[in-house]
Amino acid sequence: MIIIFLLLAAILIGIILIFSSKKFSPVPYFPSNSKDMSLIINSLDLKNNQTVIDLGAGDGIVIFEAAKSAFEKKLNTQFVAVDINPILILILTLRRFFHPNKNNIKILQGDFFKLDFSFLTTNYNLKTTIYLYISPWFLDKVSEQVLQQIPNAKIVSYMYPIKSLRKMKKTIHGKNSIFIYS
Ligand SMILES: C[S@@+](CC[C@H](N)C(=O)[O-])C[C@H]1O[C@@H](n2cnc3c(N)ncnc32)[C@H](O)[C@@H]1O
Repeated sequence: MIIIFLLLAAILIGIILIFSSKKFSPVPYFPSNSKDMSLIINSLDLKNNQTVIDLGAGDGIVIFEAAKSAFEKKLNTQFVAVDINPILILILTLRRFFHPNKNNIKILQGDFFKLDFSFLTTNYNLKTTIYLYISPWFLDKVSEQVLQQIPNAKIVSYMYPIKSLRKMKKTIHGKNSIFIYS
């Protein structure tokens, strides 16, 4: 009994440490507001031969809803959920396993400051949409990193505008604003 208790306590402390560690969570986990989900999915503008990448995917609320919508519309859209936090990667992997569109969903553990996008095939590279819901002070750096590798990527930023991309902005107003750069 004591061993089980100690084991559970160790697991709990491990989870708390991972979520509070600067290494794993320089941007804290906080999901997009579910009340804005249909506006978010509309702003992704799902199509055939498109890849949607959530950089810092959290528990996957956006990527799994979008993949469900693509599945219902019989689109071949590909989805990639990237996160740095190993616990969220475990949750994403489990959720993917039970998703009806799982064959079109990839889960990647990675750092969005250093991500190599060469996993995109040339065809899908042509229409890449990046979803970002991260701290505003990292938005310029991450979007610059994306556009260096995928110059024609469309970027959808939840809640915060991207200052360096000011001129390309279109805004959708929900509970929180959604900023679209394409
Ligand atoms: C505000 S949450 C957004 C979650 C999800 N995109 C959503 O909209 O519900 C930010 C996520 O970014 C992840 N994250 C933080 N730093 C990261 C990094 N350097 N590379 C990849 N993911 C990171 C966190 O683990 C967290 O899940």
